[in-house]
Amino acid sequence: MAEKTVYRTMNETLRLIHNRKSVRSYLDKEISRDFKDKIIHSAMRAPTAGNMMLYTIIEVEDQKLKDQLAVSCDNQPFIAKAPFVLLFLADYQRWNDFFTVSEVPDPRPPEEGDLMLACCDALIAAQNAVIAAESMGIGSCYIGDILENYEFHREMFDLPDYVLPITLLCFGYPGKNYQTNKPAPRYPQEFIHYKNRYKRLNSRDFNNMYKTVENRYFPRGEFAENAKNIGQHFYLKKHSSDFMREMNRSVRIALKNWRENGPED
Ligand SMILES: Cc1cc2nc3c(=O)[nH]c(=O)nc-3n(C[C@H](O)[C@H](O)[C@H](O)COP(=O)(O)O)c2cc1C
Repeated sequence: MAEKTVYRTMNETLRLIHNRKSVRSYLDKEISRDFKDKIIHSAMRAPTAGNMMLYTIIEVEDQKLKDQLAVSCDNQPFIAKAPFVLLFLADYQRWNDFFTVSEVPDPRPPEEGDLMLACCDALIAAQNAVIAAESMGIGSCYIGDILENYEFHREMFDLPDYVLPITLLCFGYPGKNYQTNKPAPRYPQEFIHYKNRYKRLNSRDFNNMYKTVENRYFPRGEFAENAKNIGQHFYLKKHSSDFMREMNRSVRIALKNWRENGPED
């Protein structure tokens, strides 16, 4: 179906999803306990592998902790100003402990597949929270940089071995410009959605794909220093950035920790 037809025939839920934008600047307005609980409830209603709920949500209430996160998550000051902050943890510890308490004979420790499933659960729950909040006029922003500084976050939240911070969500009522700002552009569907098998893109495809966002992101073609094109720009600003170096180091430690008691191969 052509994109224009999709937009024209949207219902209220689809329109909400289409118009959602990440919100990084919040009104100085509390979110009621009732709304907070509705957001958490919606997260918990998300699909979950085997109905095991392989995640835990920590509400970060303490301003001191928010201030620390604003630094430890790659220096993003708006985290400290968010009235409602939820940390989503991929959590196999609860089940591992339950197996122990249940005296499962010779239980195997959680492995990589268990971790992946727990990450899926936690992230799907998080996105339910985003949409629920949006439906009540509350904006949100993911903080992927919670994947950095694993050792620090582990100590900060007293996390056991089989609990991994997978995302942080900041919530708050959006400032004035929210309604008038356009949603961030996406790449066209033809490059993202295939039928039946994967398709590698060639340089012409990439040109067409990035042309669609170039005007919005680089109206004057000003790329990062030394970058000659969008690919080089993203490589420098994202892929080979300091924050990605730290994230990769941090996740490596977290995985090593998770793997410690698992089988060799
Ligand atoms: C996994 C993930 C991690 C993200 N991490 C951050 C972050 O650390 N800081 C931030 O300001 N935005 C973060 N975002 C928000 C994205 O920048 C945003 O979704 C993207 O630019 C598209 O904009 P939109 O959400 O308004 O459509 C993250 C989003 C996702 C899904």
